[in-house]
Amino acid sequence: MIYSKIKGCGSYLPEKILTNSDLESTLDTTDEWITTRTGIKKRHIIGKDQFTSDLALEAAKIAIKDANLKPNDIDLIIVATTTPDKVFPSTACILQKKLGIIECPAFDIQAVCSGFIYALSVADKFIKSSSAKNVLVVGADAMSRITDYSDRSNAILWGDGSGAIILSSSDDEGILSTHIHAKGEYGELLHVPKKDKEGCRETIEMKGNQVFKMAVNTLDMIVDETLNLNNLAKEDIDWVVPHQANIRILEATAKKLNMSMDKVIVTIDHQGNTSAASIPLALDFGIKKNKIKPGHLILMEAFGGGFTWGSALIRI
Ligand code: ACO
Repeated sequence: MIYSKIKGCGSYLPEKILTNSDLESTLDTTDEWITTRTGIKKRHIIGKDQFTSDLALEAAKIAIKDANLKPNDIDLIIVATTTPDKVFPSTACILQKKLGIIECPAFDIQAVCSGFIYALSVADKFIKSSSAKNVLVVGADAMSRITDYSDRSNAILWGDGSGAIILSSSDDEGILSTHIHAKGEYGELLHVPKKDKEGCRETIEMKGNQVFKMAVNTLDMIVDETLNLNNLAKEDIDWVVPHQANIRILEATAKKLNMSMDKVIVTIDHQGNTSAASIPLALDFGIKKNKIKPGHLILMEAFGGGFTWGSALIRI
């Protein structure tokens, strides 16, 4: 049996930091409100001259090195992003050029905060069908570029960053299953509406409360779906590596899993919600902090605009 195994990972956060106290000086908000409602203390913001592909490049270089590969060993690039550098070419093609990779298929996936799970699911299928051997899977987002910094319910949430993994073909257990879903009927609860006025910036609009409730209920269902398919119990999971949307969503999911928060990788406090980048950033954080170790069983799960949601069960 062919498995897709994580052979390397890396992440990158841009230098500039936006703290809650910075936001206090421009918005009618407080550090206390942001911390208790979201768990966020600070987030990183992309530099003026940087693009999403630059964030992706830094994480990808680390992941390729970590896997003991050279860029031209990569035979497929998938970038999950909601904030591509341009309408086209894809961020994956721009990244391919920046990495000096001469030729291989490269494309973007757009599933907002679930983007990395979608990308992982597609990469896994390429490997299992022997269509690729070493896939570079990146989640990279510059959410600050589509955030309205005069809207206090949105400006406090988002951060920028990137995470990357190398998924390689292996005889050893790796990805056990992936699960992806979407329901377009809820699109307008969390979206970037098309503005028709010239010069008007297109920014995120969200019915936060409704998104919150849907996220908690849906994540509960996806965990059951994943465990049932693999005939596993909640106790078998060593680590949950969730999309970092809001600490209260993470806590509610852990509670439904009967799992202590000690088994959940949390980065939201210093990274905010980095959309497609948040899961690979959390994975890299968990590995670098020596929490996630070889042989561990991890559950990734995400919920985001679309609505989209998904999960992946992975033996590290
Ligand atoms: N500072 C102070 N007060 C605020 C702020 C702020 N930054 N933002 C909103 N408020 C006020 C509101 O105006 C409201 O005031 P009112 O009662 O006088 O009308 C009050 O706080 C309560 O507002 P709610 O929207 O009900 O606050 P809630 O507890 O739901 O928290 C939040 C808002 C943090 C956005 C929450 O709904 C949330 O995190 N939702 C999940 C959305 C999310 O994570 N989206 C990301 C993408 S999807 C995903 O990744 C899962």
